[in-house]
Amino acid sequence: MQTPKPKRFRRPIREGPITHRNSHLFVNDTHLDHLLKSWHYTSPEFHKTEVERLFLPGWHLVGSLGEMSKPGDFVTADLFEIPIIVRNFDGEIRAFRNVCSHRNSLINSQRRGNLKAFKCQYHGWEYKADGSTGRIPEAKRFRPFDREKARLQSFPVAMCGDLVFVSLADNPPPLRDFIGERFDQIAGKFSSPSRHSMSWDSGFSANWKIPIENTLEAYHIPEIHPYSFMGVYPGEKHSTHSMKPGSSTLDYDLREFWLVYRLLRRGVKILGAEENNTYVHHHIHPGFVVIMMDLQAYAFAYVPVTHRTSKLRLIAYSFRGHRANPLAVVTWWISRFFGKRSVIQIAQEDAEIFADQQRGIEASHQPGCLGTLEERVHHFQKAVLDQCGSDGTPPDMQVTPAVPGIPQG
Ligand code: FES
Ligand SMILES: [Fe+2]
Repeated sequence: MQTPKPKRFRRPIREGPITHRNSHLFVNDTHLDHLLKSWHYTSPEFHKTEVERLFLPGWHLVGSLGEMSKPGDFVTADLFEIPIIVRNFDGEIRAFRNVCSHRNSLINSQRRGNLKAFKCQYHGWEYKADGSTGRIPEAKRFRPFDREKARLQSFPVAMCGDLVFVSLADNPPPLRDFIGERFDQIAGKFSSPSRHSMSWDSGFSANWKIPIENTLEAYHIPEIHPYSFMGVYPGEKHSTHSMKPGSSTLDYDLREFWLVYRLLRRGVKILGAEENNTYVHHHIHPGFVVIMMDLQAYAFAYVPVTHRTSKLRLIAYSFRGHRANPLAVVTWWISRFFGKRSVIQIAQEDAEIFADQQRGIEASHQPGCLGTLEERVHHFQKAVLDQCGSDGTPPDMQVTPAVPGIPQG
């Protein structure tokens, strides 16, 4: 028997004091087709096509300078089955395949840490900043030694503010081109005088497009996040959608909600931050999302693992400013604490629906539909189809329906 859902308190959607933006700010005014079919979320072949065409040519967020501020600090990541280790070599950030040239152990498997010597965890082979071998225990046992063959594979690294990106491509585009017109704004939000406040990883039993589509619409907020958005619901009157090739943005005027607005404004004044009162949600295709407000900034990297699983790396920065008075210190502590807590809570609430949606999609007999609040989902789906295939189902991409007898939508 199904457990009844708890009654949820719904805050009224307040029509705020802002009058200058009471116009129609979404792009569409009729519902939209759900362009992706079930097999786009279930086919191993389509998953491979997406990884090759959408992900591999670009850049992938793996960490931040806030996690690698000292020489020897490192983070690890798994990108499309390639383990990566990124380390601070006396101020220079370098990335390598996290596989030792001796007997192919992972050099280090911790999520992050500090390695005084860049040394493999198994027999202690050491490596230099260029990936060549350093000290090798009992080195004379390996004579004659092919130093070039034993060099670690390195990958291009680039930064946007403190955010560290790695590419697996031989000739990736400049990171500035990949990130596009918001590059400087993002760099400003993820660097001093803001500070790294948290990195957080999560995995999902769902195709990577399910969490992406979730983050691209606010329509689910009243059902999935009845409390954690404190009543904020970016409706049409105070939001702007902008959809461009390779990206889409929601700009939401936080002044609509007087409580949130007043609380944030107070913190902004105490810390000496610039006041914009805007919630910016920006998606760069395929899987990089940033949320920027006056005091908090969040970077989300969504990565496919298999056709039915995906993961998220989240990096949070919080505005600190330069004021050292006790009120500023306490305000920063509170802002950072609630900034971390709320984003994790929201991410966990969202994640609870992903496996159920994946299951539903696999058993679907019709394609679904999208409302105007979900027009950024439509924009994203169109970009996936444009780059990865037509609307039809190529015969070699047909999958066996998850539920026998139910055709795929
Ligand atoms: S596998 Fe790395 S030192 Fe042996
Ligand atoms: Fe959500």
